[in-house]
Amino acid sequence: MTDSVTFPEHFVWGAATAAYQIEGAVREGGRGISIWDTFSHTPGKVANGDDGDVACDHYHRYSDDVALMRELGLGGYRFSIAWPRVFPTGSGRPNAEGLDFYRRLIDELHAADITPYVTLYHWDLPQALQDQGGWGNRDTALRFGEYAHAVISALGSGVQHWFTINEPWVAAFLGHLMGLHAPGARDLPLALQAAHNLMLAHGQGMSALRSEMRPGDEAGIVLNLAPVQPAGDSNADLEAAAGGDGIMNRWFLDALYRGHYPDDVARLYGDAMPEIAPGDMELISQPTDVLGINYYFRWLMAHDPEAQPFQARLVVPPSAPVTAMGWEVYPEGLYQVLTRVHADYGPSRILVTENGAAYEDVVEDGQVDDPDREAYLREHLLQAYRAIEEGVPLGGYFVWSLLDNFEWSLGYGKRFGVIYVDYATQERIVKRSGHWYAQVTRENRVTG
Ligand code: FCB
Repeated sequence: MTDSVTFPEHFVWGAATAAYQIEGAVREGGRGISIWDTFSHTPGKVANGDDGDVACDHYHRYSDDVALMRELGLGGYRFSIAWPRVFPTGSGRPNAEGLDFYRRLIDELHAADITPYVTLYHWDLPQALQDQGGWGNRDTALRFGEYAHAVISALGSGVQHWFTINEPWVAAFLGHLMGLHAPGARDLPLALQAAHNLMLAHGQGMSALRSEMRPGDEAGIVLNLAPVQPAGDSNADLEAAAGGDGIMNRWFLDALYRGHYPDDVARLYGDAMPEIAPGDMELISQPTDVLGINYYFRWLMAHDPEAQPFQARLVVPPSAPVTAMGWEVYPEGLYQVLTRVHADYGPSRILVTENGAAYEDVVEDGQVDDPDREAYLREHLLQAYRAIEEGVPLGGYFVWSLLDNFEWSLGYGKRFGVIYVDYATQERIVKRSGHWYAQVTRENRVTG
């Protein structure tokens, strides 16, 4: 690999977070409860009984956190808006106090010369909408359109970059098939209906955003994508990989860029296929300006007759390096995903909206030495650069995450930040990887 690579001018160096993972203050500012409040307070759902009640207390400390972003030299900050801060009961009149918090944050970012990238849905559905069927109910997509409209009407003057939904695959499958995320269901037809309704919400959200966007603004969706490869060379493994690729990648990409779900995946889903109303696919496939890609690890798939419901499971090669999540470190996968999406779907602009790693960090003498995370980020950035060199229109990279935070069902035990958080004191410590990243953002360059 080259010694040092310089990224294109105007490449956006950013960091990402999500509302429920960092904000805390769940009972302040008129916020309603979300499915993650309910889920995390249900015994046995989250490791160590953790919940997001306080998290990183970012709701109160946002101004110090923006100062830290400045220290890292960030050009962009991707955060999400908590739907239940804006619509505490899911509908009715928007809650001005909730919107005000984000207005203050956005002002603070502009004052620090950091561009806001706003995600509207990062999994914290108002509980009131869950009580009416949540993502299993297509009305939720309409409510999302209203919410998107309320947010852009209130905050649009300070935001030019919008994302509708974060990782619909995860919300649908981990939340409604595997029971690992809120709302904790285990029901294939429900999960697939949720997957469709989340895409429908993206479409409703796009229409709402478009009605208020100004020239130069951009909007799109964020997908978690990965190369899917067979673990062995048997036909069964090849089929498992083709199925996995269909389920995670093509189902969403085909809907967005081709206006239909892939036939082979529809066959795989069979009777569990969701209800699709006339006009849905047109709404879902309306043009977007940008695609956000979250990449963490590849999917290496093996046929397994015991594995429900698709007789396939993910494997990690025995000698492969893994993160504290047990996820394989496979930097080339980022290059593979970027070039594949570019070749097969041709979005006009791509951002890596999340990439990063959890490791067992320790504080020693007030410092956190995390060479593994630094190496992970460096290797992935070099692969992103390779993709740019081959013509992929990649405009920026957002490390996951700015801060250690509430890692969903794994609670506070898994640390992804380039900034360490001491949850007892809320003290922040920029990790070695954060100092390294600050140098990257300053020089617009990565040294291999
Ligand atoms: C992604 C989520 C993000 C974070 C990372 C580790 O799937 O979007 O909130 O949990 O994984």
